[in-house]
Amino acid sequence: MSPGVGKEERVRSMFSSIAERYDLTNALLSFGLHRWWRSFAVQQLGISSGSSVIDICSGTGDLAVGLAEAVGDSGKVTAVDFCGEMIEVGRRKITARSIEKRVEFVEANAEDLPFPADHFDGVIMGFGARNVAHLDRAFGEMLRVIKPGARAVCLEFAGPSSSLFGHLYRFYLFEMLPLIGGFITGDMDSYKYLAESIDRFHHPEELKEMMEKIGFLNVRYFGLTCGVVTVHVGKKTR
Ligand SMILES: C[S@@+](CC[C@H](N)C(=O)[O-])C[C@H]1O[C@@H](n2cnc3c(N)ncnc32)[C@H](O)[C@@H]1O
Repeated sequence: MSPGVGKEERVRSMFSSIAERYDLTNALLSFGLHRWWRSFAVQQLGISSGSSVIDICSGTGDLAVGLAEAVGDSGKVTAVDFCGEMIEVGRRKITARSIEKRVEFVEANAEDLPFPADHFDGVIMGFGARNVAHLDRAFGEMLRVIKPGARAVCLEFAGPSSSLFGHLYRFYLFEMLPLIGGFITGDMDSYKYLAESIDRFHHPEELKEMMEKIGFLNVRYFGLTCGVVTVHVGKKTR
């Protein structure tokens, strides 16, 4: 088995075990800030009413809900994830908000999207970049499925920029987060993985270079909450 296949199976099984408590843990562990991060990321897509957008690694669909508000009744959001249990929670959320007509969930791999080239008005990936087995393939698919001139947005955790805050953040990440996440979900290992995967992840500048190498243009990024998360934005050529 290739290392990529091993990671896919581990990641899918981890998210299936925490799916039901994922939203609650997210809200608590981010002190509610995830709402603001998501809304900033959605704004960077530059979409409007009637747009057709794709949210990859959509999980329980929080970004899809924000996108559905932006595209309105005449638009469409395609929410893709490879974990059925996460999608199930997302479907319930979409139904509770009566926006089923705007959002369609598709169970598929972000590295091999079942959509034609030049199809969507924008693509977003929220907190998925650390989790996909081959990030270059996922970026390649993001570039392929959007129309020329459309934008791709990647929202992801990063290390904070200031060293004092960085120390506090690492203490929170490695000591508090597994305890709190483990207490809520009963799965401390998943939250140890979360801390390690954030710590090991690419520097924002490296991520920018990776997106440029894949072929995105005008790649730039914004650090939010002292650099705890970054939002990378790139464009497909006209
Ligand atoms: C941390 S969650 C993020 C969910 C959501 N985007 C959010 O903002 O809360 C990461 C999601 O990526 C999904 N995922 C990881 N690798 C994937 C892949 N190769 N294809 C599709 N989904 C994937 C997982 O199943 C999980 O639901």
